Amino acid sequence: MRALSILLVLVLIAPIVNAQSLNEALQECPGTMIGSTQPTQIHLQATDDPTSMNVIWATTTRSTGEVEWNGQSASSSDYCYNHDMAFHMATMTDLVPGEEVTYRVGSGGTWSNDFSFTTIDPLSNYFEWISIADHGDSSEAMDVSDAIISDTSAQIVTISGDISYADGEQSTWDDWFNYQQESMSRIPWITGVGNHENEPGYEFTPYEHRFDSDGEIESETFWYSRNFPGVHMVFMSTEHDFNPGSAQYNWLEQDLSSVDRTITPFVIVYGHSPMYSSNSYHGSEIELRDAVENLYVEKGVDFVVAGHDHFYERTWPVNSQTVIDTGIEGKFARGQAPIHLVIGMAGRSAYEDLDEPQPEWSAYRENSTYGWTKWTYDGELREISFTFYRIDGTIGDEFRLQEASIIVESDDEFLGVPGFSSLLSILAMFGAAIQRFTRSQGPYYPTRMQESPV
Ligand SMILES: [Fe+2]
Ligand SMILES: [Fe+2]
Repeated sequence: MRALSILLVLVLIAPIVNAQSLNEALQECPGTMIGSTQPTQIHLQATDDPTSMNVIWATTTRSTGEVEWNGQSASSSDYCYNHDMAFHMATMTDLVPGEEVTYRVGSGGTWSNDFSFTTIDPLSNYFEWISIADHGDSSEAMDVSDAIISDTSAQIVTISGDISYADGEQSTWDDWFNYQQESMSRIPWITGVGNHENEPGYEFTPYEHRFDSDGEIESETFWYSRNFPGVHMVFMSTEHDFNPGSAQYNWLEQDLSSVDRTITPFVIVYGHSPMYSSNSYHGSEIELRDAVENLYVEKGVDFVVAGHDHFYERTWPVNSQTVIDTGIEGKFARGQAPIHLVIGMAGRSAYEDLDEPQPEWSAYRENSTYGWTKWTYDGELREISFTFYRIDGTIGDEFRLQEASIIVESDDEFLGVPGFSSLLSILAMFGAAIQRFTRSQGPYYPTRMQESPV
């Protein structure tokens, strides 16, 4: 009887103890925090486990929260930083890849509307996503946001730094998240840091508390990777030490070495500053190129996606400023060298001046422009197709990267030999087979390419 009484007391006081400890965490936060428990700024955050999804939201007063989904519920972690908002992060678990999940979040008994998302099946044969950088809150940025909201086929958005341009004004972040909620409550936005996430008076603290890539509140991993159908995506930080010997470089080397190409044949590295840019405002980050280009080439990275310069530029497959391949009719075969993209045209003021003459490695560039990029992995075709859309909906640039060698289909003849192109294709496939054998014996790219003269 005595044991039962003790158990009863423990059960009764447990929620109080729990609430007190959460309140203590929230009380540590400075600021007035007088307001509502209505959830705002609701956004999904992809974990490295396809069967779970994090959701973060904000309230203007201290409260504890929970998420409900598919008949289940989980409590949130509740926290804040030096800003008059409380933040809540909860994890939805036991998700089935490819299923639709309906969820809502609540704080202090005040619930959000219902939202739905479809979990990503990493073994799917098809995947669409949007990539942007250098966003902000201009009318052009809102046009890009509206385009993302109206895109019902993209399954994630990546943003390579310079996200809201709050620059120390924290209400800018609040407004930015509220505007993106319609998209971010439905598909996760996956982020890397730019120089504008290092805020005056706050450093990376707002970024660390408002996004999550490691499931830990009040901490952020600035370099991490995610597997999606057909694509291994690396999010690195050009705002932290990336030189050989640094923690980030060691992690990059380990991560890129561990990619299983039979599952994810394509590899993309997202960062903020570009190692190839012919915009005169910032230009190529030579220190970055010196530090990591060889590693990316050696490990067979297919795309390096950056921002920072507010324009659009695509390079040819390039190594040490030497063009390795110019493709055929907008099609490239992977495995030659990385294609570098600067996509810093998602809304922040456009940079006009370009270096002249256009460098040889620059395949296409466009200034005074705004827009977003749309990517598709098609496992049947074994290729990634890429399109740069301007905010008026016109196409600025497009190309495809194939996993296999390019086969030119035509009935032409050359020197009286019918089907000459087919013969070339066969020779190309034979060459690719030799190259694959060579790769299995050493670095991913032939050594001669690494030693090409600048
Ligand atoms: Fe920027
Ligand atoms: Fe930047």
